[in-house]
Amino acid sequence: HAPIDVDVSKLPPGQQITVVWHGNPVFITHRTPDSLARLQEAALKARLRDGASGMMQQPPYATNWHRSIVPEYGVVVGICTHLGCVPTYAPTPDPSTPVANWPGGYACPCHGSKFDLAGRVFIGAPAPYNLPVPPYSMPSPTMIRVG
Ligand code: FES
Repeated sequence: HAPIDVDVSKLPPGQQITVVWHGNPVFITHRTPDSLARLQEAALKARLRDGASGMMQQPPYATNWHRSIVPEYGVVVGICTHLGCVPTYAPTPDPSTPVANWPGGYACPCHGSKFDLAGRVFIGAPAPYNLPVPPYSMPSPTMIRVG
């Protein structure tokens, strides 16, 4: 499989695009300053189900609080780690969610797992692990090469 180059120079903050890599959806998100601030809220840490994020869930360069090469762009495989549904992009908090302190991110339509914009899963979800970060690089500040 050849890598996929995705030009994110026209992707506005707050928007997401989905590309297909190895037959799987990959979510590429331009995170806003507000959403980055929410990802760093100390209260979130106690709500993460897979806080340490098993080594299989991301490459070494994404082993950080934003789980990506640069904080502004998120790159995750859009396959729920419960039973494989495709989570819905829901970047802002939803007061109706029963998951306390969920800052918004991804909501799985099948059994309610909630992930933040770093793909980290919240306690109370049936999904056991964070969304995987695929291997990728950034040949330029606005180019994401998946694979
Ligand atoms: Fe996502 Fe079950 S497949 S919560």
